[in-house]
Amino acid sequence: MVMQAKGRPPKTPVLPSEAPRVPDHKAGAIQIAAVHKSFPQLDAPDITVLANINLEFKPGEFIALIGPSGCGKSTLLRLIAGLTVPDQGRLFLDTDEIHGPGYERGLVFQDPTLFPWKTIYENIAFGLRARGVYQKEKTTIPEFFKLVGLEGFEKSYPHHLSGGMAQRAALARALVNRPKVLLLDEPLGALDAFTRMNMQDEILKIWEHRGMTTVMVTHDVDEAIYMADRIVVMSTRPAKIEQVIQVSIGRPRQRGAPDFLDLRAKILQLLHFAGTKQELQYYL
Ligand SMILES: Nc1ncnc2c1ncn2[C@@H]1O[C@H](COP(=O)(O)OP(=O)(O)O)[C@@H](O)[C@H]1O
Ligand SMILES: [Mg+2]
Repeated sequence: MVMQAKGRPPKTPVLPSEAPRVPDHKAGAIQIAAVHKSFPQLDAPDITVLANINLEFKPGEFIALIGPSGCGKSTLLRLIAGLTVPDQGRLFLDTDEIHGPGYERGLVFQDPTLFPWKTIYENIAFGLRARGVYQKEKTTIPEFFKLVGLEGFEKSYPHHLSGGMAQRAALARALVNRPKVLLLDEPLGALDAFTRMNMQDEILKIWEHRGMTTVMVTHDVDEAIYMADRIVVMSTRPAKIEQVIQVSIGRPRQRGAPDFLDLRAKILQLLHFAGTKQELQYYL
């Protein structure tokens, strides 16, 4: 059973949709130029995961990365995060080449990866302490509790939180360093459908409010269409960019609207045929 601190329900963040964007600073542009990535295998040739990937994300854009399982989505996100390096090609955040991890790129995984022995407050404060700016910036921490709707849970431990609440804490931990870029690797993948839809709205509100460039890996086509400005559809391994789709549906989007469903059908077809181009061409 999931326990909630002091029996209180989590608060829903209240950010009026007309609230002006208050980016902490100019959001970052990402450039991925001719990137190749392969991994060595035991007793087998290296496997090429990414082959000549070229992408540019604009400052403040919301990008969804979608593609078959194992095609290299997480690898691409880890390259942007600087957790792994390309074999060939280069990645840039604005004009700076990415050589390793940095606080200007916040990361949230499917598993919230909170420190179980630290309170939620200490988990969220961790980034500030690691950067050595805790004393200077600790007054901003309540703002992030409010932003993700976790006020009242400062003294709770991760095992007191439901999956959705733990994921909000992980989000606050990434946001407390005011990143230019937020990298999300299937952040809602472990949540039930109802919590997941609520969290999609909450992440969108935070994105609209703070204006950071956001790159989210998802295997859920509806989630990609509901949230993203552009959807990058990747092919099976070695992943190439199958198509980059601009989602020109006004926000807030209606999941059942005809333009939503048309785009859904188009992407599902792309994913179905991704990697089988030759057979597809035969039928065209
Ligand atoms: N560190 C690694 N060492 C060896 N193989 C890896 C490593 N990371 C990923 N891979 C392999 O690369 C492929 C792509 O993985 P990943 O990027 O996690 O795919 P996705 O996120 O699209 O499901 C998989 O076949 C995976 O096994
Ligand atoms: Mg993955």
